[in-house]
Amino acid sequence: MIIYRSEKEIGKIKASCQVVARTLKVLEKEVAVGMTTRQLDRVAEDSIRRAGAAPAFKGYRGYPATLCASVNDQVVHGIPNDRPLREGDILSLDLGAILDGYYGDAALTVAVGKVDPRAIRLMEVTRDSLYRGIEQARPGNRVSDVSCTIQDYVESRGYSVVRNFVGHGIGTNLHEDPQVPNFGTRGKGPKIKEGMVLAIEPMVNEGSFEVRILADNWTVETIDHGLSAHFEHSIAVTKDGPVILSELEGE
Ligand code: MF3
Ligand code: CO
Repeated sequence: MIIYRSEKEIGKIKASCQVVARTLKVLEKEVAVGMTTRQLDRVAEDSIRRAGAAPAFKGYRGYPATLCASVNDQVVHGIPNDRPLREGDILSLDLGAILDGYYGDAALTVAVGKVDPRAIRLMEVTRDSLYRGIEQARPGNRVSDVSCTIQDYVESRGYSVVRNFVGHGIGTNLHEDPQVPNFGTRGKGPKIKEGMVLAIEPMVNEGSFEVRILADNWTVETIDHGLSAHFEHSIAVTKDGPVILSELEGE
C-alpha cells in the first residue's frame, strides 16, 4: 500500500533526512587513509543521537550497526569493521535515521585519498544516474520511468545496475511501498503522485550486475570483484516535481 504524505509529514521526513545529511557530511570529512569503518560508525551514531534522533538501521532485521560501509567491490550493507581504509579505496556510506517517528535514508560513495580515475568515473556516473532518476519522479510519470532512466544512463556509460536491491517508499517505516528498481521498462508500475516519498538508490557496478551475499549474511559484493558505487536520496513528489529531502540545507 502506497501512503501519500501531507506537507506536514513531509516536513518531518525532511527533518530526519537532514540529520542523515549532516551526519554524512561529518563522515565525509572524517574519511581518511588509516581510519576504520568501525570508527566512522561511532561518529555516525554519536552525530545522529546528538540530533535527538536514533539510527534506523541498527537492529533492523538484526543489522548490527548504525552505518553501512561498503568498500570497493562491496555493493551495500557492509558491516563496519577494524580494517584500516587504504589509499585508493572507494567507500559507500549508507545511513538512516528516525526522528519523531519519521525515517530518513541517504547514501554516497567517497574516495579514500587519491583514487584511480576509473573509480572516479564510476562514482560520477552513479551520482548522475541518481539525479536523472530523481528528475523523473513527477506526477504523470510511473515508477518505472525513474527505473528506466537510471538503467539507460548507466548502461550507456558501459556499467551495469544491480538487480537484487532496489529503492523504496519511506516515511513511518524505513521500507514502504512502492519498490523503486534501478532497471525496467518505461510506463510500467505505479503512477507517481503528489505526496509520494521515495528513497531512490542506484547501485552501479563496473562489471557484471550479479552480486552475492557474504557469510556474515549482510555484506553484498560483486560476483566478478569489479568496483561498485551507491548514491541515494530520499525525495518527495510535489505537483511541481521532485524535492530532495536529504540534500543538506543551510547550516
Ligand atoms: N539504504 C539501504 C536500504 O534502504 C540500507 C538498509 S540497511 C539495513 O535498504 F540494515 F537497514 F538493512
Ligand atoms: Co534505502
